[in-house]
Amino acid sequence: MKEQLAKIKADALSAFERASDAAALDALRVKYLGKKGELTGVLKMMGKLSPEERPVMGQLANDVRAALEGALDACSEKLEAAALELRLKSEAVDVTIPGKPVSLGHRHPMYIALDEIKDIFIGMGFEVLEGPEVELAVYNFDKLNAGENHPSRDWSDTFYFDTNSRVMLRSQTSPMQVRAMETRPLPIRVIAPGRVYRKDEVDATHSPMFHQVEGLVIDKGVTMADLKGTLNTVVEQLYGAGTKTRFRPHHFPFTEPSCEMDVQCHKCGGVGCPTCKGEGWIELLGAGMVHPRVLEMAGIDSEVYTGWAFGIGLERTALRRFKIADMRLIFENDVRFLEQF
Ligand code: DAH
Repeated sequence: MKEQLAKIKADALSAFERASDAAALDALRVKYLGKKGELTGVLKMMGKLSPEERPVMGQLANDVRAALEGALDACSEKLEAAALELRLKSEAVDVTIPGKPVSLGHRHPMYIALDEIKDIFIGMGFEVLEGPEVELAVYNFDKLNAGENHPSRDWSDTFYFDTNSRVMLRSQTSPMQVRAMETRPLPIRVIAPGRVYRKDEVDATHSPMFHQVEGLVIDKGVTMADLKGTLNTVVEQLYGAGTKTRFRPHHFPFTEPSCEMDVQCHKCGGVGCPTCKGEGWIELLGAGMVHPRVLEMAGIDSEVYTGWAFGIGLERTALRRFKIADMRLIFENDVRFLEQF
């Protein structure tokens, strides 16, 4: 039995030394020290020994076990250290290798124009609102005083979701006027930028999806002079001091009186050129005094409060701001085009 124990010890120690990884070492632990292992096997035969031999062999067996356990610990530490060493080597970072440049994008020209517009209005005390692109026709038309037979309700112009023409993709940001009036305390001073949708074919100046910025002011004693003064200030900040504007009468169902505002052509200074199609003026936005009926439908007393509103097309503003000839370039997102701004 003594020889058996010595052999187990020698075999085990040399096997531990040769184990290549933690799993192999663990298998060896089971083989030699496990419940069904070789050392246990020998111990089971202790019963056959004489009472004098038993404690001697017992001591010897314990010594072997202790030696094996010690060797296991040492080998396992060695393996761990080697594994760590290997990982450190494989994950080493060579700080002298030149980095890969990360190409940074930048803001889209239309959003540059939008940010400028927002900044101007925020500077004048306006708040910026956002509203739903999937809108109820009640907000897009009815509460804006566009009657049952208003042409813009037509299926050929508008994207409806249902056959009853109740839910639609908003065709203008003007429903945000109503949403603001219904939910916000007076006085109101807001702009609401966002996407709008119409059944238009794509060409140099049209897209079925485009952006508008709506503006609304409601307070006591607000007049057309406030409208003109504010919008003139905005235009001077957008296009430079001294930029001339003109207001032409127009019709919108939700304003009375209504107007369109033109800016003098930046290219020719008003003489007439291809940019302004010989007009000398370029149409910029629609505006007007909020129709009393619209105020009343939103629960605002039109005898006490008045207001003005405007709606401006963002793509067109960006085209003019950056002298871009074709609106499709705004949506194509060709990096070579976008990088110019
Ligand atoms: N919603 C109009 C359109 O899409 C633009 C507009 C005109 C908005 C006059 C207004 C306004 O707020 O007062 O053509």
